[in-house]
Amino acid sequence: MNENKNQVIDENLYNKLEVHKCICCYDAPCSKLYKNINPERIIRAIKFDNIKGARSLIRNEEKCFEKDSTCNQKCPLNVNIDKIIKDLINETDKIENIEDIDVSTEICGVKLENPFMLSSSIVGSTYEMCKRALEFGWAGVVTKTICMMPIYESSPRFSAVKDWDGTFLGFKNIEQLSEHSVEENMNMIKMLKEEFPTKVIIASIMGRDEKEWEYLTKEVTKAGADLIELNFSCPNMKHKGTGSDVGQNPDLVEHYTRIVRENTNIPILAKMTPNITDMREPAIAAKKGGANGIAAINTIKSITNIDTDSFVPEPQVNGKSALGGYSGQAVKPIALRFIAEMVNCNELDGICYSGMGGIYTWKDAVEFMLLGCTNVQVTTAIMEYGYRIIEDLLLGLKIFMREKNFKKVSDFVGKSKANVINNDELEKDTVEFPKFNYEKCIGCGRCFISCRDGGHNAIKFNEDRKPTIDGSKCVGCQLCRLVCPQSAIGILPNRIKINKGQ
Ligand SMILES: Cc1cc2nc3c(=O)[nH]c(=O)nc-3n(C[C@H](O)[C@H](O)[C@H](O)COP(=O)(O)O)c2cc1C
Repeated sequence: MNENKNQVIDENLYNKLEVHKCICCYDAPCSKLYKNINPERIIRAIKFDNIKGARSLIRNEEKCFEKDSTCNQKCPLNVNIDKIIKDLINETDKIENIEDIDVSTEICGVKLENPFMLSSSIVGSTYEMCKRALEFGWAGVVTKTICMMPIYESSPRFSAVKDWDGTFLGFKNIEQLSEHSVEENMNMIKMLKEEFPTKVIIASIMGRDEKEWEYLTKEVTKAGADLIELNFSCPNMKHKGTGSDVGQNPDLVEHYTRIVRENTNIPILAKMTPNITDMREPAIAAKKGGANGIAAINTIKSITNIDTDSFVPEPQVNGKSALGGYSGQAVKPIALRFIAEMVNCNELDGICYSGMGGIYTWKDAVEFMLLGCTNVQVTTAIMEYGYRIIEDLLLGLKIFMREKNFKKVSDFVGKSKANVINNDELEKDTVEFPKFNYEKCIGCGRCFISCRDGGHNAIKFNEDRKPTIDGSKCVGCQLCRLVCPQSAIGILPNRIKINKGQ
């Protein structure tokens, strides 16, 4: 791989900001301008952490792009599309032969053509929506949770913590369950199974009592669902003893799982709530009750923004709000933490994991799989960008597998599992010191400020606006590397032994 060339867009701040400016229009005006090249598709690949995929979308003959280009004028935000694409065209290394890579996997023994499914939510709530998603390439759908209680939703029902460009860092919803009747949902499952026999349809259900759990189990089994997901985790329920109330109570989890087990022979996933200290307890209870797999995580109870004029949190429903479920990018680290704890728990051996929470890119998905999930589910990223994100999930995954020489998904599932250990077991006798790359450094001084005010005051910022390290003060925390906007701080090749207590 050509290091320097790959850094043009990965690490060049100007290009990064230009790519960030792209808002991924629907039917983007820029996509119509050229016969062989689709700038929208290429820039979207870069945005979704798939720079190599973006490069693979440009073929040799498309170098003609350099001669004639009116893209920039068509872009509503005047993104410098020309420059982004030309930089990519100049990078010659391409990923070849990725079409044949086998990305199939499984969920509780049921084959999935790839690891990517819609998670239970609005994104899989009607036949038309599921059909469109499956046609786009998603391997399966978990239905919006089917229930027998009346569902009346509030308006508005979402709020988002946004980045400066408007993208969602985190997303809050105060939505409940499927507003469609059991009958409508059963028709949807039957039609989807008929039309897409090789795709996986998972029925998400929630009962208010034993009778409802039993009834819903029998109905979805009859309708032809491949698996059942038990929603023990919705944080927005009105009825006591439902949703996350159940997920916080291992006895109830075991009880309801057992009722479902006794009434179906298809695999069962228990969906866990993160609104709990230790997810292993309800997960073990679900296993005892007969669950084959764990789905995690559902949303995290939250308040996002409080309006400082009206003093009402968002979303504001006639002057009031409620706690709601937080999802999207912000929750991924919390989801990964819960998965890591469960996969390393002996009592949960043999359980299949379906991971979710903040998956936007192929890399996010691979992180869940490296911990031990055989498949993943997505909602918030689809709500923000649409089903089309499957293109970069698949392309990025294939490139990752080609580069690492993984022949099948199971070759890397669980590879990071043993690398999560207790803090007190980590080696603390040596230090990894930072090293400045002055060719890349733009002299902004961000490393200096952070080290002075939030580190160990180990960086000097000289008159020529170049930072230097004071080795006697540096503890190797590497805050400087994290704040550097240019990725201009690397590390010294060897860890240095330190004398403790001196
Ligand atoms: C608007 C919305 C509605 C949801 N509805 C359900 C639901 O009906 N049943 C369920 O089990 N989870 C539901 N979820 C939770 C998601 O399935 C998923 O667990 C969570 O959002 C984390 O994944 P994400 O970050 O990809 O969105 C909902 C999430 C959102 C954002």
